[in-house]
Amino acid sequence: MDILDAIKSRRTIKKFKSDAVELDLIYSWLEAATMAPNHRMTEPWEVYFIGTDTRAKLKHKSDFGNAPVLMAVVSKHGATAVEKEENALATACFVQNFNLAAWSQGVGTFWSSIGTSAKNREILEVPENYNLIGVLGVGYPEVTPEAKPRTSIKNKIKSLP
Ligand SMILES: Cc1cc2nc3c(=O)[nH]c(=O)nc-3n(C[C@H](O)[C@H](O)[C@H](O)COP(=O)(O)O)c2cc1C
Repeated sequence: MDILDAIKSRRTIKKFKSDAVELDLIYSWLEAATMAPNHRMTEPWEVYFIGTDTRAKLKHKSDFGNAPVLMAVVSKHGATAVEKEENALATACFVQNFNLAAWSQGVGTFWSSIGTSAKNREILEVPENYNLIGVLGVGYPEVTPEAKPRTSIKNKIKSLP
């Protein structure tokens, strides 16, 4: 799939098929995701695959759309507040790279911040010096929603002299 098609057709998936997603494929998308821009080459992202016992403790209302794979993406803080913010931004780029790589091969994702509460950080064993960027459900879409309309960027452009 062409990159523009992937960007435009991607949706947040909230209902997944139970079909397994090959681990090799997931690794290939994660490797692709590491090409995300990151200042000072900090490569701040880390990925936790979430097993069934841990997942049950999260008590998410839709169990992340019954995604067959669940993972958390965390971002290591830097030495300063600026680095912490830049690292979180880089890790968000990593997540979207992953989302688009998966989508281009027919697999959807549910990026949820619901799992990022203090209680869930504890369940996911996220160290103090890491941001929890999101919990990602990954799987083949059962339902692909219509696109949610976006405001044209033309309404959000300022031209400076
Ligand atoms: C940082 C982040 C956190 C999100 N957290 C949630 C969430 O907790 N629950 C949820 O239903 N969707 C969550 N989403 C998905 C958005 O709701 C979704 O992207 C938005 O509705 C637009 O839909 P689309 O991705 O299909 O275009 C999150 C997205 C991002 C980027």
